[in-house]
Amino acid sequence: MDFNWAEWTAVLLRFAHVVAAIMWIGNSLLFTWMELRLVPRRRDGGEPDDDPDLLGHLDMLHGGGVFHLEKRLLRPGAIPVPLHWFKWQSYTTWLTGFTLLCVLFYRDGLTLADATRSDLSGPACAGLSLAGLVVGWLFYDLVWRSPLGRNPLAGGITSFLGLAAAAWAYGEVFNGRALYLQIGAMMATCMSANVLVHIMGNQHRFMRALESGQAHDPAFGKRAKSRSLHNHHITFPVLFLMLSAHFPRLHAAEWRVAILLVVVVALVAVKWLMNSRFWFKGWLAAIFGVVLLAGILIGVFLNLPARAATTASADPLVAEGRALFEANLCATCHMEGSAQIAPSLHGIFGKSQPLADGRTVVVDEAYLRRSIVEPQAEVAAGFAPAMPPYAGRFSEAELDALVAYIRSLGAR
Ligand code: HEC
Repeated sequence: MDFNWAEWTAVLLRFAHVVAAIMWIGNSLLFTWMELRLVPRRRDGGEPDDDPDLLGHLDMLHGGGVFHLEKRLLRPGAIPVPLHWFKWQSYTTWLTGFTLLCVLFYRDGLTLADATRSDLSGPACAGLSLAGLVVGWLFYDLVWRSPLGRNPLAGGITSFLGLAAAAWAYGEVFNGRALYLQIGAMMATCMSANVLVHIMGNQHRFMRALESGQAHDPAFGKRAKSRSLHNHHITFPVLFLMLSAHFPRLHAAEWRVAILLVVVVALVAVKWLMNSRFWFKGWLAAIFGVVLLAGILIGVFLNLPARAATTASADPLVAEGRALFEANLCATCHMEGSAQIAPSLHGIFGKSQPLADGRTVVVDEAYLRRSIVEPQAEVAAGFAPAMPPYAGRFSEAELDALVAYIRSLGAR
């Protein structure tokens, strides 16, 4: 049996990454929900409370009892034990995510590249991706430390412009899937760095102050809270981008950068509107409005003509094949430049293909047809027999078109 360590490491890491992310994001959503639902400074009888340390309280039914929660300022000398901190969910998410990037992409940086647009080397692609994680954080952090950051709207717009510039730049050299992942990873890195530098940093600072007998200074908490609100508002776009490998129609689209930006703005707006329900009556209608508008915009971008003549084929059969390839989501598995799930179909025509049963076949039109209609009959060596059989799905003419399209794909 051959053991593919990278494949098994990726299975383990992906699972750990998803579990850690669920725990982290679950916390973020619940804590913000509690914050917004907090009943300010009133005790059970509805009487205003005169306890100056009490910021609010909340009762929640769960598991056969009521969690009676109070949010209060801490007093030096009265620090509760045990006091729970929340950080490892975030760090684990980042560490497993970063290791996944290394195992899946940085090992062969060319999996990030779009060969039709750039001829960067593998290490250059990996370096560019890595640099983006660092520079993205420095840019974002600087914006919010600067005077711009005092105004949430100005800080938000500047951060978004930075993100748009990054998306445009990476879109010039990375393939669609890598582009979406890169922007998701940059945003997620800012989130984790927020936890490490600002949220934990400020919590440590005020705990140290308390331990040395000084009064609780809410300014520390405010700084931590503003970053934690940023994290809260970008969770939806980050989740979407992390899952985007399943939406090849979007990331493989010609206007992928514009679509990405629409998705980011719409999902931040949706999260904001969800929180606005405590004071804004029309929040639900507004969410439907945002989703509809984003859907229309994405529809427009998907139907705009291609930017460059290179992507539009002169041969109508090839163009039809490309349309079928896209409509049937073949690229969910057959990603350009990547053979993680399925073989890359670029440049395979005419090559000899070793099969799992030990035979070797030449990739000709007949083999391509058989591979689509009855993929399990001849499984490419090194891959799981994971391709769905498309027998009966395509007419003969459509199969001709698909084969013509795959034939037309040059080597990367
Ligand atoms: C769920 C993932 C998945 C989807 C979706 C998928 N494939 Fe595949 N495909 C695979 C895998 C895995 C292999 C390699 C194993 C095999 O040969 O069956 C493969 C193999 C192939 C091969 C043979 C490649 C070679 O190097 O031998 C062709 C051609 C192909 N697919 C075309 C298509 C087309 C066209 C579509 C869309 C109509 C499609 N695939 C959709 C997973 C997928």
